[in-house]
Amino acid sequence: MKNMGLESAAKPTSGAEITRRDFLNEAAAGAFGIAGLGAVVVTYQYLSPNALFEPPMTFHAGNADLYPINSVTYIQDQQVYIVRTADGFYAVSAICTHLGCITQWKSDSNCIACPCHGSKFKSDGTKIEGPAPRSLPHFAISVSADGGLLVDKMETVKPGQALKV
Ligand code: FES
Repeated sequence: MKNMGLESAAKPTSGAEITRRDFLNEAAAGAFGIAGLGAVVVTYQYLSPNALFEPPMTFHAGNADLYPINSVTYIQDQQVYIVRTADGFYAVSAICTHLGCITQWKSDSNCIACPCHGSKFKSDGTKIEGPAPRSLPHFAISVSADGGLLVDKMETVKPGQALKV
C-alpha cells in the first residue's frame, strides 16, 4: 500500500511549480494591495472638498430688445422672470415664498401662479392670494458693459425699482 501524501511531498519540484508557501504569500500580498487601494480611495474622498457647485448667482439676460413692453419672460435655468413694463425692467424670483415651488406665468389670467398650493401673484410679483406669506422678491437688474441686462440674484431690491433702458 502506497502513501500518496508522502510520495507527492517527496517529489522534486520544478522551477515553474508554485509551492503552497508561495501561493499564500501571493494571496496575502494581493489582499494587502486591495486593502491599501481601498484605504487610498477612502482617504482621497475624505480629503477632497464636499462642496456643491451651483450656477453663478449673476447672469446675463440678453439684450433689452428681446423683451417687448408689458411682457413676462421666464428664464428657466435661473428661475427668474424678466418683467418689462412701460416703466422699465424688473427681475422677479420664480420661487414661491410659501414652500419654494416653482411658479408659472399664466398669460391667460395675467398672473404668476403656484401649482403647489394655489398662491397667485401679479406680474410684478405682488401677492394676490393664497398661503404664500409675501410677494415674490425682486433681484437687482442693471445694464452690463456690453449693453445687455445683468441680473444679480445675490441682491434683492425693493419692488418698484424699475430699470429704465
Ligand atoms: S409652495 Fe407655492 S403656494 Fe405653497
